[in-house]
Amino acid sequence: MKLAILNGPNLNMLGSRDPKLYGHETLDDVRALCQVQCDIHGFTLDFFQSNHEGALVDKIQQSRDAAALIINAGAYTHTSIAIHDALEILQCPIIELHLSNIHARESFRHHSFISKQATALIVGLGAKGYGRAVDAAADLIAQS
Ligand code: DQA
Repeated sequence: MKLAILNGPNLNMLGSRDPKLYGHETLDDVRALCQVQCDIHGFTLDFFQSNHEGALVDKIQQSRDAAALIINAGAYTHTSIAIHDALEILQCPIIELHLSNIHARESFRHHSFISKQATALIVGLGAKGYGRAVDAAADLIAQS
């Protein structure tokens, strides 16, 4: 069973990008944490990051065979109808994830084009949220 975890723009800078807000873990640390949880649940991890909207759309389309998809679309969360439309094509559970609590931040971060397509949301747990999201994906797959 494939679990797709997609990360949007600037998330490759984790660790050095505003650590007070996003934590000290790098994206490689996040990938390793996800791998541990995926091994526990027997998922094959497909972990992806891009700074480009079209590349994220391509990856969502290529994830049609995934059992579940976790997405932190970064700033595209708040702007991208293209990502919204691509997610609409998927049949599997979708978890929207943010390291920070976007609702406690600037008002332009309060709207998400992802949320309408999402089965569940995880926000504000930092890197640990990814591990919780993998666990939640396993629950959602078991329920479906
Ligand atoms: C983010 C929140 C977004 O508003 C921001 O643009 C990001 C990271 C988060 O994980 O908290 O790049 O998605």
